[in-house]
Amino acid sequence: MFFKKSLLEFSKKAISRILTIAIILIIIISAIVTVWYFQGSLFNPPTPTPTISPTPTASPTPTSSPPPSEWKPDGIIEKNEYTHTALFASGSLEIHWKNDNDFLYMALNGQTKGWLSIGFEPSFSMKDADMIFGWVTDNEEIVLDLFSTGAFGPHPPDTELGGSDNILEYGGIEDETNTVIEFNRRLITQDIYDKELQQGQTVDIIWAMGSNDNLDFAHNIAKGTGQIILD
Ligand code: HEM
Repeated sequence: MFFKKSLLEFSKKAISRILTIAIILIIIISAIVTVWYFQGSLFNPPTPTPTISPTPTASPTPTSSPPPSEWKPDGIIEKNEYTHTALFASGSLEIHWKNDNDFLYMALNGQTKGWLSIGFEPSFSMKDADMIFGWVTDNEEIVLDLFSTGAFGPHPPDTELGGSDNILEYGGIEDETNTVIEFNRRLITQDIYDKELQQGQTVDIIWAMGSNDNLDFAHNIAKGTGQIILD
């Protein structure tokens, strides 16, 4: 009996020691694993994350013409202010223009210190031409909306014929050799003394230059005919 009791107590003590040793071992192993883990991340410098350098992209190739400059009727024809240019009178008259759905923007730049003019859609010679006529003096810029009632004139202002002045904005500059006038108008003004202009239209024009600042002084520098094509 005594022997059985002693054996039981010995077994209990042995199990408790084994458990204690097992717990101590678990703690030690956990400590080693923890230290190993933190040493790996704390004391070794972190591996730099590879940065992906951007793939060089080619600078964008312009696929179309540069954006247009803002239109200003100041007598200065900026690069890209107009989308079209045509030369007349052996290059001594430049006509620049652009249009959108509603408006025509135009510049005339001619070798004269007198007047410049363009006429749209004459029926014969100057007859029925819807004319825009301008000049610049030291003090003023004049741009007039005219209509030629006869083959050789007269071409009074639309307002004198009962129509209206449909030049919306205008301006100009004159230097030692040239005069520039710039103006805009609606493609369709509703005035019977203005030709209706359409997008995409090929417009017959007459043009002329005179050496005086005078509506009644004929084209002693150059005159002629041509065409412009609207966008
Ligand atoms: C300023 C007053 C003007 C007068 C007194 C005038 C007078 C004349 C006369 C008499 C003719 C026929 C003789 C010639 O060929 O020289 C003519 C033709 C002509 N004029 Fe004018 N004109 C004037 C303004 C203009 C204007 C503003 C333009 C353009 C917008 C213009 C464009 C033309 C053209 C293109 C011809 C020739 C037509 C053809 O040969 O079929 N004229 N002009």
